[in-house]
Amino acid sequence: MPQLSRDMTIAQARRALADAFRQAELDSPELDARLLAGHALGLDHTGLTRESSRSLNATEAQALSALAARRLTREPVARILGHKEFWGLTLRLNEATLVPRPETETVVEAALAAIDRDGPRTRALRIADLGTGSGALLAALLHELPNASGIGTDVSREALAAARDNADRLGLLARAEFISSDFGAVLTGTFDLVVSNPPYVASGDMAALPPEVRLDPRRALDGGADGLDCYRTIVGQAPRLLKPDGHMVVELGIGQEPAVAMLFRAAGLAPSPARPDLSGIPRALHVRVATMTP
Ligand SMILES: C[S@@+](CC[C@H](N)C(=O)[O-])C[C@H]1O[C@@H](n2cnc3c(N)ncnc32)[C@H](O)[C@@H]1O
Repeated sequence: MPQLSRDMTIAQARRALADAFRQAELDSPELDARLLAGHALGLDHTGLTRESSRSLNATEAQALSALAARRLTREPVARILGHKEFWGLTLRLNEATLVPRPETETVVEAALAAIDRDGPRTRALRIADLGTGSGALLAALLHELPNASGIGTDVSREALAAARDNADRLGLLARAEFISSDFGAVLTGTFDLVVSNPPYVASGDMAALPPEVRLDPRRALDGGADGLDCYRTIVGQAPRLLKPDGHMVVELGIGQEPAVAMLFRAAGLAPSPARPDLSGIPRALHVRVATMTP
């Protein structure tokens, strides 16, 4: 546990935290130290730099120590802060929401690439986000597509409340609706774009997840015996939800592309090769109705 005391400068406190996080083998010790210091002191990145040689007072030292102790128990920074950046947007989290992951931005990229191929982003598109969680995917897409409107579904009422709150704070609520549904089960009409990042961890792999991930709600992660249960549900709904020239983009877990693509093909849909994330992992599977050229 880092010993932070009053009279330590902000720069020294950040270094002490980063050293402790490095010793504990956390993935991004400097970044975590900066984010927690900023949160405890109410300073953004620029403020932390500007005030780096100022000494902490006793209250600040205590507050920052408490946050560091939580991080050392492997509580994710986003959970400690209560929010996470996704696609440049700040999303508030609660206990029912998954912390949005950077790799999920690949789904946004794939969806926008598909939309861009068909015409301008200013079209009045209709979007569905199945298993919306914090509303990350729908918020990012509505942010990029100024005349689109969308529906986010989830089985968690707490997650839907967080998604609604996020859309409201981002000025998107006039174009967004959030409803309780088993993925697309209660949706009516057809959509230009359907996106989903479903739970896809095989139940047997849940216990081996890193400590940070285990704080995410189980129903946001557990995809059943082979991890594919939610894809089966979504694939079954896809033909009814998609316009004939519509697009679906789903996030994939590692190694799931062949099995998920096969599910879509069996339902008469046409998947393209998955778009890789920044680590080169096939992550976002784009699917069209089979009669359309992918
Ligand atoms: C992996 S999380 C994705 C959350 C968010 N879309 C994101 O990418 O950060 C999966 C989400 O699906 C929701 N979910 C699980 N089963 C569901 C179901 N049968 N119908 C609708 N949503 C479901 C979970 O509550 C969770 O919010």
